[in-house]
Formats: sequence, C-alpha cells, structure tokens
Amino acid sequence: MPNHDLPTSRRSKPWSLTFFGLLAAGGLIAMPFLAGGPDGEKMPDLVRFLGHFHPVLLHLPIGVFVLILFQELGAIFSKRGKEPGETPLFPLFFGAASAIVAVLAGFLLYHGEVRFRGNELAERHLWGGLIFAVAAVVTLIFKAWTMALNGNAAFYRLLLFGSVGVMGFASHDGASLTHGEDYLTEYAPEPIRNLLEIEPAKDAPAIVPAKVAGEQSVYANIVAPILERRCVQCHKEGKAKGKFRMDTYELLVKGGKEGPGLEAGNSAESNILIRMNLPMDDEEHMPPEGKPDIEDPEVAVITWWIDNGADPKKSLTEFDVPAPIQEAIAKVASIAPAQVATTAGPAHAAGPDEALKSSVAGFSKQFPGALSFESQQSSLLTFTAVSLRGNLDDAGFKTLAPVLPHLVTVDLSATKITDQAVSQLLSAKNLRLVRLAETGVTDASIDTLLMIPSLESINLYGTKVTDAGVSKLSAMPNLKRLYLWQTAVTPEAIKTLKEKLPSCEIITGA
Ligand code: HEC
Repeated sequence: MPNHDLPTSRRSKPWSLTFFGLLAAGGLIAMPFLAGGPDGEKMPDLVRFLGHFHPVLLHLPIGVFVLILFQELGAIFSKRGKEPGETPLFPLFFGAASAIVAVLAGFLLYHGEVRFRGNELAERHLWGGLIFAVAAVVTLIFKAWTMALNGNAAFYRLLLFGSVGVMGFASHDGASLTHGEDYLTEYAPEPIRNLLEIEPAKDAPAIVPAKVAGEQSVYANIVAPILERRCVQCHKEGKAKGKFRMDTYELLVKGGKEGPGLEAGNSAESNILIRMNLPMDDEEHMPPEGKPDIEDPEVAVITWWIDNGADPKKSLTEFDVPAPIQEAIAKVASIAPAQVATTAGPAHAAGPDEALKSSVAGFSKQFPGALSFESQQSSLLTFTAVSLRGNLDDAGFKTLAPVLPHLVTVDLSATKITDQAVSQLLSAKNLRLVRLAETGVTDASIDTLLMIPSLESINLYGTKVTDAGVSKLSAMPNLKRLYLWQTAVTPEAIKTLKEKLPSCEIITGA
C-alpha cells in the first residue's frame, strides 16, 4: 500500500553507480591475469614512479574505512540504527574510489620490482588489496541500493565489516613486506614476546657484538655462507641439480644421486670436496664452468671442518683451530683472525642471513655507511664509496669479496680503484648498477662488465674508455643507461651503439 509519508524510493535508483562499480571491480580482478608476473627490468620508469606512490595513497582508504566503521557502529547503537540513511553515502564512495587508486598504484609497484617475483607475501598482499577494493565497491553498491529502496541496513553493514576485515589482513601483509614480519613486535616488552612466542629481536646479534668469544657455530656462520655463495643457487628447493640440495645441513649430508654430500671426518671421500677439487676443465668440477670458482681459503675451511667431524653445532672455541685455518676463516668471513671468535652471532640464532648481517656489520667499521641492505627484507646489498672517495683503492675493495654476490648497486666514483677492482665484480651476479665515474678504469673493465649480464646501468663518466671498449657493450641487451660524459668515445661510436641498443639511453652530456 503506497504511503505518502514514507515513499519506497527516496532517491533515484543507482543504476549507473552499479554499472561502473561492477565494471571497475571486474577490471581489478582481471588485471593480474592479464599482466602476468613482475618484470622489473622491462618496465618503463613511469611505472615505477607511479608505483612508488602506493605507500602514500594506501593510508587514505584505511583512514576513511575506519571512520565509516565507527560511524556505522555509532548508528547501530543509536535509536534510529535500522535506517540505512543514517550515515551518508559519500564517504563510502570516496573510500572505495581511493581504494581503487591505491590498488592500482600498488599493482604498478609490484610490477616494477623484480624482487617481488615469486615472493609469496607480495602476491598475497596484492590479492588482499584487490579483494578489499572489490569488496569496497560491492559494499558501496549495496549501500546505495539499500538507501534507494529503504531496505534493511544489516546486509550492507555485514559487507562493510567484511571489507574492513580484509583491509586489516591486506594492510598487515603490506606492513610485513615493507618493515619485516616482526616489525611491530620486535621491540615489544619481553612478556609480550614470550606470550606470542617470538624470538628475541632479530637484529641483536648483528648490532651488538657477540657476548662470548667463539660462541658461534662453524657450520652456520662460516661453512653455510660459503655454500650459499658458491653452490646453493643450483642446489636448493625447486632447483636441485643432481637431486642434491645444500640449503640445510641435513640435506647436505644426505646428498644426491651419487650418495652422501659429505662424509664426516673424511674430506677425501666427501662428494662436495671431490667435486670442488676436480681440475677446472673437468666437466664435473663444481661450481660448473661459467660460474665464479670457489676460492682456495673457502675450500680449505670446508676441508678442515669436514676432517674435524663436520659437526653442525660445534663452535670455534670447541676446535683447536690451526693458524692457517684461522687466516682462511678470517679471509672468507672477512674479519681479522683475532676477531674470528667475536664477531658472528650466537649459535642458536645462526643462519646464512645472520652471517651476512654480521659480515655487513663488520664492514661498517672499515667503511662507515658505505655498505647497506637494499631493504629490511632483502639480503641484497648496495655499496657506495661516496664518503670514502680517494681512501678506497683496489686493496680496500678486495676485502669486500665475501659480500660481492649480494651487491645490486656499487658506486666507486672518484675512488682510486682500477681495472683490478672491477675484475672482482665478476662474482657480483646480482649487480644492476655500477658507477665508475672519474676512476682509473680503462677498456679492460668493459671486458669484465660484459660478463655481468644483470647490469642495467653503467657510469663511465670521465674515464679513459675508448671506442674500442664501448662498442663491445652492444652485447649487453639489459643495458638501459650508459653514461659516457667526458670520455674519448666519438659521436660515431655512440651512434652505432645506439642503433644496436635502441632501448638504452646513452648520456653524453652533449
Ligand atoms: C650453476 C649451477 C651449479 C652450481 C653453482 C653448483 N652446481 Fe653442483 N651440480 C650442478 C649440476 C647441473 C649437477 C648435475 C650434473 C653433475 O652431476 O655434474 C650438479 C651436481 C653436483 C653434485 C653431484 C650430486 C649427485 O649426487 O649427483 C655435487 C656433489 C655437486 N654438484 C656439488 C656442488 C658444490 C659443492 C657446489 C659449490 C661449490 C656446486 N655443486 C655448485 C650445477 C651446479
């Protein structure tokens, strides 16, 4: 029966909002399927530029939705709570729109960064954000219809609470991605950490010098990091060459098709050492041809450890370490022999990452501020000699050898390094950017750089490189930026190079 005081429709029906809302929701869901996985290198800078706004934008929908949540709770507990028109529609519209924008930026961020490739947390966060944005749109449509038809607000509210719940999950994943999983609880008071069964603050061993000399396990802090550098890339979960994994102690001992990986107390019969000690030109030599070879001190330390029982837990103090081995350990762990016993973390928290962290912490004394992790999540490093300049030479750079495989960018501009230091970079298989501006490097360094296919940016500003060397760079398809300001390279050579590398920007200052 029509009622003049309470018309069934207080507003026109929200058909266009429904249409465009569903269109946006469908588009969002389709996006990941159409775009595939992240491929950082191929993305234009604009993608990365816009993507970097994600951390700024995402707080808007979070704030708006928290506000709406409180408004709605207020309405429920007020007398007129049953009326959907109690709270206005616009904040929800604004919240949903800002959620879409934040998700789009997040999507670009994800695609612009190679480090998100295969990162489960990043994928979950991507989907969490997407589902939240879609849920926000659906909630909006529902509320509009509820208002138009004077329906019961309960359904819309249920959807709203659900959306806020998804938002909570997605935000938590996002925070874990940027700050590390234990960011919130890291400095929590001990009773709370015990309650949540959280390990003590992770960074502690790297920052605070070890408590007792030699408390660290030889396997976890010295042997495992060597294997990590030289072998694990091909012998791990999902890529176990010869059905042999070396990423845990148990699997290392267990071995592969040819039997156990090592025989405790007997290095001569230990498969990993037999392989490492084969002549370089033997097909079965490990690591295989084309990979930086394992170095003598590294082999010496592993041999010594196996001959002395290959214990996974035993610490340095429990061994009688002969002087040559102490020296070898100092070399491979990049710390002075006297420090060998004091720098690494305590055994129970040990792992390759702890070793890397303590190694980086060790370098911070030698090169303050020069070496740092790319992000808190990452085991990738950046090195910049900006504050060292003339104080860094080939010998100084050589000490960085143990961390080179982790480097993604290295800035050696205006230092005293020469081609010799650059030749060290062969083991920097993750290197994307190298700055050699105003150093003594020559065409010989270009021959080295050619063997680092991951390189995307090379700065040779003010060096002695010539046409002969630079023309070889045409064999580097990943190269995106090349700085040749103030070099003897001729315009003709640059023109030919540009033709061969159309996607590379060559900066000549001309
Ligand atoms: C670039 C990839 C790569 C790296 C790095 C590498 N390996 Fe291998 N490894 C292989 C391949 C491929 C095989 C299988 C072919 C063969 O047996 O030679 C293999 C097989 C082996 C085997 C035989 C396993 C079995 O039981 O069949 C051992 C032992 C081994 N590797 C040890 C090592 C050690 C030790 C290192 C580090 C010093 C290392 N590998 C680094 C690729 C690699």
